[in-house]
Amino acid sequence: MSETLERWQSRRAFILAVTGAAVGLGNIWRFPYMTGENGGSAFLLLYIVFVLLLGLPMMMAEIMVGRAGRRGPMQALAYLAGEAEVSPAWRWLGLFGAITVFFILSFYSVVSGWSIEYLVESLSGGFVDRTPAEIGTAFDAFLADPPRMIFNHTLFMLLTMSVVAAGIANGIEKLNNVMMPLLYLILLVLGGYAFTTTGFGDAMRWLFTPNPAAITWSVVLNAMGHAFFTLAVGACALMAYGAYMPEEQSLPRAVFSVALLDIAVALLSGIAIFSVVFSHGLDPGEGPGLMFVTLPVAFSELPGGQLWLAAFFVLLLVATWTSSINLAEPMVSMLVDAGLRRGTAAILVGALVWGVGLLSVLSFSTLADVHWIGEMNFFALVSTVPPDLFLPVGGLLIAIFAVWRMPQPLARQALGISLPLFRLWRWLVRYISIPMAVIVLVSGLL
Ligand code: PHE
Repeated sequence: MSETLERWQSRRAFILAVTGAAVGLGNIWRFPYMTGENGGSAFLLLYIVFVLLLGLPMMMAEIMVGRAGRRGPMQALAYLAGEAEVSPAWRWLGLFGAITVFFILSFYSVVSGWSIEYLVESLSGGFVDRTPAEIGTAFDAFLADPPRMIFNHTLFMLLTMSVVAAGIANGIEKLNNVMMPLLYLILLVLGGYAFTTTGFGDAMRWLFTPNPAAITWSVVLNAMGHAFFTLAVGACALMAYGAYMPEEQSLPRAVFSVALLDIAVALLSGIAIFSVVFSHGLDPGEGPGLMFVTLPVAFSELPGGQLWLAAFFVLLLVATWTSSINLAEPMVSMLVDAGLRRGTAAILVGALVWGVGLLSVLSFSTLADVHWIGEMNFFALVSTVPPDLFLPVGGLLIAIFAVWRMPQPLARQALGISLPLFRLWRWLVRYISIPMAVIVLVSGLL
C-alpha cells in the first residue's frame, strides 16, 4: 500500500482528534474507581508518574511511527521494517493492537450505554429526592436487567459504527471541539460543589496524603495500565491518527498538552466523586458502579441538579463517542486495506464487537459467577486484562521498534525536534520508559 496523502486540515484538528481519543471513560469513570480500589493517593501518584515518564514518551513514539510510515498501522510497521531491513514480523504488532481495541471496545460500549440510560433517567426526573441508598439500589436493579442494558449497548454501537462507516470522524471531532469545554465547565462546577461538602477534606487527604504502605506490585501494574488506557497508547490506534499528521506540526508540544489535560480532567472528577463518597459514607472501593452512584447524589444536591446531570451525561457521551471511534478505526481501516468496502467493514466489526459485548452485559446478571480467570467474570476480565496488560505490552513493543529498530534519522524527522532533544527523548525511552515497563510487567505478573 502506498503512502497516504490525506492530512488533518489543521494542527488543531490533530490535537482535537488525539484529545478526543484520550479523554473519555478512562478519566471520568475508570480513574476514580481504580483509585478507589487501589489505595487512593498511592494509585494517583503512580498514575501521574507513569503518564509523564512512560505514557508521554511512548505516545510520542507511537504517533511518530504512524507519521513516519504514513500508512495504516500494519502497513506502516511493514514499510518501516523494510526500510530498516529488520524482520517484517513487526507488522503483527498492528494485529495485536487490533485485538486489544476489539476487547476494549466491547466493554467500553456497554459502560457508555449506562450513560445513555442515566441521561434518560435524569431527564425523566428519576433521581429527584432519592437517598444515596436508593440510587445505589436502582443502579443494581439496572445492571440486573439485561434487555435494558442490551438496548443501550446496541444504541451506542450504532452511534459509533455509523460515524466510522461514513468516514466522517472529522465531523465528530468538530462536535467534540464545541462540547468538551462545556464538559470541563461542568466538572469545574462539580469541583466547586465538592468544595462545599463535608467530605471534601477527607477526599483531599485520601487523594493527596502519601500512602506508601498501599503500594503493591498489582497496584503499580494497574496504575501503569491505566496510564496507557487513559492516553489511548499501546493499541496502534494513535499510530493510525499519526499517519495523517501535518508535516510541520510539533509532535511533542501536541502530545504534552493532551497529557496535561487528561490528568486535569481525571483529577477534577476524582475530587468531585470522592467528596461525595466521603460526605455520604459511601465506599470508595465500590468498583465500576462508583460514578453512577455518586454523581446522581451530587447533582441532586445542586440547584437545577437534574438538568446539570442530564447535560453532564450528554457531554460524557460525546467524550466516549470520540474515544470509541478511535477504538474502532484501526480494525475497520485494516479490513479496508484488505479490500473490504468501508461500510461492510464497519458492519462486520460492529456486529462482532457487539456480540462479544453481550458477554459483558450478562456479567452483571446471568453470567456474574462464571469465572474465566481466577475470580474474574467476563466483564472483569476484559475491563482489566486488555487495558492493564495488552496496552503496556503493545506500547513497550512499539517503543522498542521506535528506538532500536526503525531508521533513526526517519524517527527524528517524524518527531520534528532538534538533535539534542531527540537524543534526550531516545535516552528517556531506552533507559527509563522501556526498563520501567519491563520491570513492572514482570514483577506485577509474578
Ligand atoms: N483513552 C480512552 C479513555 O480514556 C480509551 C481508549 C483506550 C481509547 C485505547 C483508544 C485506545 O476513555
